[in-house]
Amino acid sequence: MCGIVGYVGGQEAWPIIYEGLRRLEYRGYDSAGIAVVDPYGDIQLRKTVGKVSGLESTGEHPDGSVGLGHTRWATHGRPSHENAHPHTDCEQRIAVVHNGIVENYLELKRRLIDAGHEFGSETDTEVLTHLVEEGIDRGLSFQEAFRRMGRMVKGSQAISAIMQGDAAEICALRLGHAGGIVVAQSEGQAIIGSDLPALLPLLQTDSNIGQVAFLETGEMVVVTRDKVEYQDLEGNHIDKQPRMVSQEEILVDKAGYQHFMLKEIMEQPQAVASAMRERVNFETRRVDLLDFPLSPQEIAGLDRVMLIGCGTSLNAAQVGRHLVERYSGLPAEAESASEFRYRDPYIGPGTLVVSIGQSGETADTVAGMQMVKDKGGKLITICNSEGSQASRIADGTLYMRAGIEIGVASTKTFVASLTILNLLAIFLGQSRGVLDTAKRQELVDGLAQAPRLLGDLVANDGVYQYLAQEYAQFDNFLFLGRGMNAPIATEGALKLKEISYIHAEGYPAGEMKHGPIALIDNAMATVALAPKDFLYDKVVNNVKEVKARDGRVLAVLTEGDSQLSADVDHALYIPEAPEHLIPLLITVPLQMLAYHIALLRDRDVDQPRNLAKSVTVE
Ligand code: M6R
Repeated sequence: MCGIVGYVGGQEAWPIIYEGLRRLEYRGYDSAGIAVVDPYGDIQLRKTVGKVSGLESTGEHPDGSVGLGHTRWATHGRPSHENAHPHTDCEQRIAVVHNGIVENYLELKRRLIDAGHEFGSETDTEVLTHLVEEGIDRGLSFQEAFRRMGRMVKGSQAISAIMQGDAAEICALRLGHAGGIVVAQSEGQAIIGSDLPALLPLLQTDSNIGQVAFLETGEMVVVTRDKVEYQDLEGNHIDKQPRMVSQEEILVDKAGYQHFMLKEIMEQPQAVASAMRERVNFETRRVDLLDFPLSPQEIAGLDRVMLIGCGTSLNAAQVGRHLVERYSGLPAEAESASEFRYRDPYIGPGTLVVSIGQSGETADTVAGMQMVKDKGGKLITICNSEGSQASRIADGTLYMRAGIEIGVASTKTFVASLTILNLLAIFLGQSRGVLDTAKRQELVDGLAQAPRLLGDLVANDGVYQYLAQEYAQFDNFLFLGRGMNAPIATEGALKLKEISYIHAEGYPAGEMKHGPIALIDNAMATVALAPKDFLYDKVVNNVKEVKARDGRVLAVLTEGDSQLSADVDHALYIPEAPEHLIPLLITVPLQMLAYHIALLRDRDVDQPRNLAKSVTVE
């Protein structure tokens, strides 16, 4: 959460930092701020509540070629001008930006207040500023004071600071897993950021900026115009080799779509094809996961699979549980990483834990993974971000290869996760000899159709727009599904609530009569997932129960269904498909419905309130 950008070089810092922050808004947008050291060596500060664009109206941009910026996702202290970063000391000698949580901030704050420091915000971040100030007042250099501060704070975070004067240097450090810092240097200039997109504004004019290094936990960097120096928190030099990142990794734009979310929904056919590339042989009809880290003996020794994730990735994990159980012959469980991390689960030599995450940085997921690692468990991750925490902790990564996802609502990474979970389940079944050849071939043949079928579905925009108009006025939604589609009902409800702010619940359809049925009346919209699978008749009964109570029903059916279509108010159709593809296909109409309802309600689709793309705090 929170985005950090720092620049030092021969150009004006403000526009570079401003553009970098705009690219990092997926990390939070409760407030934004930029501090620049002006030509007289003074720190000039501009802040705004809300989005980065608000900085445009904070008056004339200060001149200066060294500066720091921040876009905030609020943890300690509400979104306000006072709580916006950068935070400065009383005399505005130092400016600090921060991503993460200072766990011992209360204790530090009390001590600093006793020592005479005055605080102007409710944030934990402000203690960092005063700690650096304290070091400087004790005669330390800026670097030394920054390092000292880094040794005093507890928690998982990234911190960066600049100081007044003519030193033109930026210090940054990383503690724990919550906050990444990427550093790029070229001739006469350097940039730091929380994430690769921060580099984009410079990359467009200087291709050498593609050489980047990532800070590891406990590492610090001092960046000047001509030099980048890596150290540990004791000041010992660290050798670090930058690596080249591709333009594609960094470059993102809306490609003519109104929103990133729509663009990313439209990219789903390619995302699925890309997830299968070189992993599925459509001639031999086998799945070969060359990037799977376990040996054939280890795979044979598996006796259980546990899948963990949060939010949309948890919904993917729940579908994955069905797939793994059905095709690999292994018992499987799925659980929220935020619960898993605080249990004491048995992780035996035959347990395989699979974490799922778009970002690979979600704090709960990373903590759950670390616990598995500490217990000596076998751990893989399904992840979309190269170099993420998750991919570093896991024994191996099955990359989604969906391309960067900017919309806060996960879309293409969800279908990419489902694709990889299909591959994993088939691969385990195939490797363990429990999946007979005919079944394996049927599953692989089904996967071959997925990009085409998804392509047909995303092209149905007119239908989704029409239905959105019919349903946008409802304030309560129930999404019902069974079997593999129960988690898809939850995902449909999550998409709708997060981007339209409409109350929506996802429920296993069989559970409806145990409580939710009391909610049914003509003001409650029910979205019933009733594809033609082995549970179809059961869902039909549930839909009839809703209709008998005057509920309004929109059903997602298989093309050609004439049985249920007559009983419901509206129907959406997916093509006939094998059961393992149905969760992927049903997802598309639900995403599109949520998207168009949110548009009709005039919501900020790509950056819905209170959310952030990567949830790197607990
Ligand atoms: O990066 P991750 O997949 O680990 O993120 C987990 C959740 O924060 C994420 O899926 C969230 O629920 C999305 N906003 C859903 O659209």
